[in-house]
Amino acid sequence: MKNIFMILFIFFSFTFSIYAQLKTLANPKNFEIGPCIAMDPLRNETQYRNTIIAEFNTAVAENAFKMYMWTGPNSYNFNDTDYLVNFCRQNGIKLRGHTLVWHSVVPSWLQNGNYTTDQVRQMLQTYITTVVTRYKNDIYEWDVVNEAISDSSPHGLRTDSFWYQKLGPDFIRLAFQWAHQADPDCKLYYNDYGAEDMGGKSNGVYNLVSQLKQEGVPIHGVGWQCHFYYDWRLNQTFYENLERIKALGLDVKVTELDMSIPLPVEPQELQVQARGYADMAYFCLSNKIGMVLWGFTDKHSWIPGFTNGERGAALIFDENYNKKPAYYAIESVLKATVNGAIYNCDFENGVYCWFTNGTCSISTTTAQRR
Ligand code: XIL
Repeated sequence: MKNIFMILFIFFSFTFSIYAQLKTLANPKNFEIGPCIAMDPLRNETQYRNTIIAEFNTAVAENAFKMYMWTGPNSYNFNDTDYLVNFCRQNGIKLRGHTLVWHSVVPSWLQNGNYTTDQVRQMLQTYITTVVTRYKNDIYEWDVVNEAISDSSPHGLRTDSFWYQKLGPDFIRLAFQWAHQADPDCKLYYNDYGAEDMGGKSNGVYNLVSQLKQEGVPIHGVGWQCHFYYDWRLNQTFYENLERIKALGLDVKVTELDMSIPLPVEPQELQVQARGYADMAYFCLSNKIGMVLWGFTDKHSWIPGFTNGERGAALIFDENYNKKPAYYAIESVLKATVNGAIYNCDFENGVYCWFTNGTCSISTTTAQRR
């Protein structure tokens, strides 16, 4: 009898140690790591579900929490959102909300409905209040406004958006206030892409969020989407941007990380990509920033569709759920603490991290940076 327990114990410990990787390393460090989740494979693919459960402590919906759920002036379809919330609750996964107001997903009944400004304002308030209130106990932070800053200089607000055209610049402030009223404990983010390092667009985002802060709008963080190319590397300007945002009293979170490779992929490019993932894991871990990926398996990634098949392989598991060098790079950074210090990966003062057989090994002999 005793032996059976022993065998079972060994079996489960072994299984656990194989399958519970990133989460097991991240939890003791209070490090948030997780993917966006797509509903179709969540409902239909066991391996998709099981990998999420085993590997991650945080998640966000790829599309479910966008305005697709708003089916009419007073009607909602909460099937997907309820399903996802239950999945996360049952598996101890923290859920981010993405996103309340985005120019890219506006219901067609609303756009074509000839509503007045007052009606649109009223309806948006009801939408935000309804959704935030419903998921109050399950969503710990929301991307309240997504991608409101223009890509072109001088990087003011995007004026061709439905929200801007109907409500003017006020829609941003109002959305944050309504979300805050519905759930005063929820952390509220402004989220955007191409504004992670110093530059024109990040100046635009910085100006927007500092103005919101000055006006006393309840905003708590800036989301950096981080849709990068595979050869992305960390540099000093990410620190500069982080510091100025922190100086406003705001947090930063990596919200949609992926690093896409031109197709077809060369094996060497997977190594280069892994170094980028190591850099990002290092940056996030050492600055206590959560790291949310835009998916986890190349089988379900928005990149090939978005780039007409030109790029792909942007995530940390391949299409067959095998761990890629990028996965091992993150794992190595999570393991690489020596005397409580985290070692740097090839950033500034020398190469502290090298790659063999697709694995990132961290030198314990070089000097620590921070
Ligand atoms: C993307 C999804 O991944 C796609 O499935 C969908 O067709 C379009 O939106 N920035 C964002 C995300 O904030 O919501 C986008 O997600 C990717 C870019």
